[in-house]
Amino acid sequence: MFGRNKWFETVAEAQRRARRQLPKSVYGALVAGSEKGLTLRDNLAAFTELGFAPHVAATSDKRDLSTQVMGQSIALPVILSPTGVQAVHPDGEVAVARAAANRGTAMGLSSFASRSIEDVVEANPKAFFQIYWLGSRDEILRVIDRARRAGAAGLILTLDWSFSNGRDWGSPVIPERLDLKTMARFAPQVLPHPGWLLRYLRAGTLPDLTTPNLEGADGVAPTFFGAYGQWLQTPPATWDDVAWLRSQWDGPFMLKGVMRVDDAKRAVDAGVSAISVSNHGGNNLDGTPAAVRALRSVVEAVGSQVDVVQDGGIRRGSDVVKSLALGAKAVMIGRAYLWGLAANGQAGVENVLDILSGGIDSALRGLGKSSVRDLTIEDLVIPHDFHRTFGA
Ligand SMILES: Cc1cc2nc3c(=O)[nH]c(=O)nc-3n(C[C@H](O)[C@H](O)[C@H](O)COP(=O)(O)O)c2cc1C
Repeated sequence: MFGRNKWFETVAEAQRRARRQLPKSVYGALVAGSEKGLTLRDNLAAFTELGFAPHVAATSDKRDLSTQVMGQSIALPVILSPTGVQAVHPDGEVAVARAAANRGTAMGLSSFASRSIEDVVEANPKAFFQIYWLGSRDEILRVIDRARRAGAAGLILTLDWSFSNGRDWGSPVIPERLDLKTMARFAPQVLPHPGWLLRYLRAGTLPDLTTPNLEGADGVAPTFFGAYGQWLQTPPATWDDVAWLRSQWDGPFMLKGVMRVDDAKRAVDAGVSAISVSNHGGNNLDGTPAAVRALRSVVEAVGSQVDVVQDGGIRRGSDVVKSLALGAKAVMIGRAYLWGLAANGQAGVENVLDILSGGIDSALRGLGKSSVRDLTIEDLVIPHDFHRTFGA
C-alpha cells in the first residue's frame, strides 16, 4: 500500500490540513488574532494590494536567495519567528529547529516554548532566544544568562503585547495542565483527530504546557498560565529598560513589534542591532495597520543603521519578495510554518520553506533579478495610499 502523500503545494493547503488534523482548540490557538481581527486581515490584505512590474529578459541564469541578518548568513531571506504555541506536534520547536537548519536558515525560540533552548541550539545553532518583559530585572537576567550559556545566536525582545482578551470568533480553551483526566474532558475535541493524539502517544508523552526556559531559581518551570500571570503583573518596559537589557547582551539584539518611526529611532538610540516591523501577527492591538504598510517608513528612517526585517501576513514567496523590495533584509514567518508543523512535523516545516524558496525564485525570475539583494521599490506596483508613516 502507498501511504497518503503528505507533501503539500501551498501554505493554504497546509492550513487546510492543519485544520483537519488538530483538535479545535489547538487549531484555534494557531489562528489566534485579537478582538475583531482587523489587523489579522489587513496583514494579509496588504500583500494583495501590491503588484509587480516584471521584466521579460534575465540578466543571469542564477538566482541567489541568500542574505545576512542578525549576524547570520542564511540561505533564504526567511526566518522562523518565535511562536509560543507548539502543542501542535510532540517534537515542537526541535522539529522547527531541525527544519530550519536543513534549509539553512535561522529561527526564534519563544520564551513560552515547550522545548528548552539547549535542545533547540543543539538542533540549530542559528537560534535566537525571544523574551518578553516578564518579571524583575534579576529574573530577566537569569533567563538570558541561560540562553547565552546555551549558545543562543541572538536575543529578540518582543514588546508589543497589550493583553487584549476576547475574539469575536471565540478564544480556544487551553487547560492549565494536560494530564489524562483533562484529556478525557477534552475527548470530544480530541477523538475526531486521532492522528494528532497518536503522534503524542507514539512519542510516549502528552502536550507539555509548561515553559522550561522560564525556570526560576527553584528549578521549577512555570506553567504557561503561571508565566502569563506574572507577565501581566510586570510593569511595561521603558526605553531605559530596553537600553539596560541591550547592555546585558553582547551579540545581535532585535526589538520586535515596532510600527513607528519615532520608536524605531529610540530603539536605535537604545543600541539594538535589528528591528522587526511587526504587529505580532495581528494578535495584539487590533486596528493596527498591516506591518508591511509601515515597513518603508522604518527602513527609510533607520535601515542604514540596523537590520530591518518584517513579519506578519507572509504566506507565499512573492510576499517575501514584496517585503524585500520595500527594504526588509528578511522576513519572519509565524502561522505558515505552524500550519506545516501541524500538517507533517519537521518535513511539513521544510515543505513550507521549500514553497517559499520556490516562490521567491520564481518572482525573482519574473522580475529579471539574480539576487534577493537586488530587489528595489521599482519592482513593485504600489497603490498611492498604501504606506503608513507614524511618528516621523
Ligand atoms: C500562535 C502564535 C504564537 C505566537 N507566539 C509568539 C511569541 O511567543 N513571541 C513572539 O515574539 N511572537 C509570537 N507570535 C508572533 C509571531 O512571532 C509573528 O510575529 C507572527 O506570527 C507573524 O505573523 P504571521 O503569523 O502572519 O506570519 C505568535 C504568533 C502566533 C500565530
